[in-house]
Amino acid sequence: MVDLVDVVQTLTTPHPLDRYLELIRPTLTARRMRAEVTHVRRSTPGSVTLTLRPTRQWRGHAAGQYVQIGVVIDGIRHLRCYSPVNPESRRDRHIQLTVKAHTGGLVSEHLYRHAAPGLVVDLEPAAGTFRLPAARPDRILLISGGSGITPVLSMLRTLADEGYREPVTFLHYAKSPVLVPHRAELDAIAQAHPNIRIELRYPGRRAADDLEPVTIRSCTEVSGGGYFDYDELERVAPWFADAQTFVCGPNALMDAVRKVFEAEQLADRLHTEEFTLTTVPVDDSDVHGAVSFTASGVRAANSGASLLDQAEAAGLQPEYGCRMGICFSCTAVRRSGCTRDLRTGETGSDPDQPIQLCVSAPVGDVEIDI
Ligand SMILES: Cc1cc2nc3c(=O)[nH]c(=O)nc-3n(C[C@H](O)[C@H](O)[C@H](O)COP(=O)(O)OP(=O)(O)OC[C@H]3O[C@@H](n4cnc5c(N)ncnc54)[C@H](O)[C@@H]3O)c2cc1C
Ligand code: FES
Repeated sequence: MVDLVDVVQTLTTPHPLDRYLELIRPTLTARRMRAEVTHVRRSTPGSVTLTLRPTRQWRGHAAGQYVQIGVVIDGIRHLRCYSPVNPESRRDRHIQLTVKAHTGGLVSEHLYRHAAPGLVVDLEPAAGTFRLPAARPDRILLISGGSGITPVLSMLRTLADEGYREPVTFLHYAKSPVLVPHRAELDAIAQAHPNIRIELRYPGRRAADDLEPVTIRSCTEVSGGGYFDYDELERVAPWFADAQTFVCGPNALMDAVRKVFEAEQLADRLHTEEFTLTTVPVDDSDVHGAVSFTASGVRAANSGASLLDQAEAAGLQPEYGCRMGICFSCTAVRRSGCTRDLRTGETGSDPDQPIQLCVSAPVGDVEIDI
């Protein structure tokens, strides 16, 4: 059957139908998915929680997945990934994002300072394999650190909403209690669900540093203890070997958790998500020659960095989202030359192949079509 939108699209050529509709209202779209910010909360220092109402194309997310949003700053659209913190079962078609402001970070600082109800952003469908399995495991261990709480919080809220009855432990690391987003709600979840154990850790912090008394009732909070290790795991989830474990956080936490699970031969029960890229060490013998950005006529000496970093250093502004090889926003064609995948160390040199600029570094001379 001919799609009515396709027919109208043909009539409105050369511009897509959405170009006309957005003149009426930015969220009135035929094809393009967008979302309007309806509430903004800045209750945790350095982060902002946005509630968004997506357009009718939104199909929801599975707990743990991320979305990409496009935010226009000074006339340029910037894509970034954020993991919804709301439970996946939420029926009122809203998305909640908690964004930590990074010093010098373009989009996160912008949202933290300027996001207000009425702001409209582009929205991509939810994606990612870091998600609660549809058949819920018998025991679930959730571990997070810092802003890595977001996908794991969606999992926790989903399990709480569903009335999941098996044991769940949520272990979260932060610098201090005031920096834990949604902390009061965590307490409420722990109070209402005896099977859910919530453990908050503030390593390197003294209890005497508390600016306000710790009022939380049902979560266990420990200041000044150590970082994640086997003993901690045994303490908070002695059944961890039978559980499925989901972890998201800074590299040091991820490394510590991986080390323990590998030593216990439980790596297949560990599911991870990172917000930043872990790369293989740069091979000095790769760092020679020049990178030619053919479409822009720009050429620069190969510095050994990722092609995305090198393009930006040369004054170009290629589109990007995650900077870690998961969203494909930065894909461009390698016309000639050899590149190394910074995640795996593998090289590729077939001409005219699409590559992801953020996770590819040149090995000598390379031509990229941007
Ligand atoms: C799957 C996924 C889910 C995520 N979920 C969340 C979430 O729920 N909440 C959240 O707060 N964040 C989340 N993030 C991180 C988020 O996508 C952004 O990376 C973060 O908000 C920073 O974006 P920014 O525009 O502020 O910073 P950017 O301007 O992109 O900069 C990020 C960092 O890189 C540095 N940098 C920028 N440009 C360069 C360059 N050219 N060369 C070298 N370094 C540079 C900056 O100094 C800064 O420290 C997620 C990321 C992924 C991949
Ligand atoms: S920016 Fe996401 S894959 Fe490169």
